[in-house]
Amino acid sequence: MDFKIAIIPGDGIGVDVVQEGVKVLNRIGEVYGHTFKYEHILAGGSCIDAHGTPLLDESIEICKSCNAILFGAVGGPKWDALPREQRPERGLARLRREFGLFANLRPAKIYEDLKENSPLKNRVIEKGLDLMLIRDLTGGIYFNEKGRREGKYGLEAYDMECYSVMEITRVAKKAFEIAMQRKKRVISVDKANALETSKLWRDTVIEVAKEYPEVELKHMLVDKAAMELACNPSVFDVILTTSIFGDILSDEAGVATGSVGMLASASLNESGFGLYEPIHGTAPDIAGKGIANPLATIASVAMMLEIALGLPQEAAAIDRAINQVLRDGYRTPDIYTDGTTKVTTVEMGTLTAERI
Ligand code: NAI
Ligand code: MG
Repeated sequence: MDFKIAIIPGDGIGVDVVQEGVKVLNRIGEVYGHTFKYEHILAGGSCIDAHGTPLLDESIEICKSCNAILFGAVGGPKWDALPREQRPERGLARLRREFGLFANLRPAKIYEDLKENSPLKNRVIEKGLDLMLIRDLTGGIYFNEKGRREGKYGLEAYDMECYSVMEITRVAKKAFEIAMQRKKRVISVDKANALETSKLWRDTVIEVAKEYPEVELKHMLVDKAAMELACNPSVFDVILTTSIFGDILSDEAGVATGSVGMLASASLNESGFGLYEPIHGTAPDIAGKGIANPLATIASVAMMLEIALGLPQEAAAIDRAINQVLRDGYRTPDIYTDGTTKVTTVEMGTLTAERI
């Protein structure tokens, strides 16, 4: 089949890791007989330098003509002094807004051969960690009314947590659909003992669950969920939660897997169109050194094949290749341990592609 993919490397290590993602995609094309055409698009700081804005209008139109977006990361110290509205991350924010990408999927799993990299104790990860966190990306406290005002005791600031039934319903549906393809278990995380938004969240999720009778739904308070992630992560399969709780819990789940360089993500809209990216940033401390771990991006490519292009076998082939390259002992510095072989970004990409 023929596909068109928007390639947006961004800044810093985004450029290095996306190049390896494309390498793996090309290999999939060769082995499985697909043609991938690419639209290369500037975003973030590199786009500011070239065009004075973090994303060109025409880039949105180009993305609309593509089957999916593969994204690296944007930002860096060079652009930190710019005012908020002109900063590199506005490029990514604009893509999320223009395409209505409300559902953020973040898988976290410990690879068998990287168990010793996890900060979790052996007895905790014995049963493994393999979960999918689905987080609302466009509502809640980060994206509602905020400001400063004179209060009873002088200056105060506020951020409003607010969720509509519509927003909760659509992200809940995504979670249940994904649960149907996994272990048919959803744990919805909220703070229903304290927050009105969480009460509505819980009631609405219960309603949505009625459409998925095969899926077992449980509710968990966020503080309890934070504890369970550290002590007993195998209780989770699909986690459904809000923007702020998901931000925190996904980092916690991610760190348990050993390296931020291993973690993929997808951001989807109602029709399933999405942006696929590693969860890490541009890593200014290692940018330009050629040592960034490309596996998070390569795993994001696998998610893209499965979700956006309907190619689950090809996605599974990438997953096997990642497992195999780790089994063969190859490691970028972030996951290096004694007795393994240290490799560069480019080598890791090539070694992974060769295993497909
Ligand atoms: P970061 O994820 O870039 O780096 C955090 C730490 O993890 C650093 O020590 C880095 O070297 C390491 N690291 C990250 N990715 C790695 C990889 N693939 N392989 C090996 N090591 C890796 O987060 P930080 O430092 O908070 O942000 C740096 C810049 O990235 C900032 O400008 C920030 O705004 C931007 N950023 C962009 C994101 C995006 O475009 N989606 C997401 C997060 C941060
Ligand atoms: Mg975060």
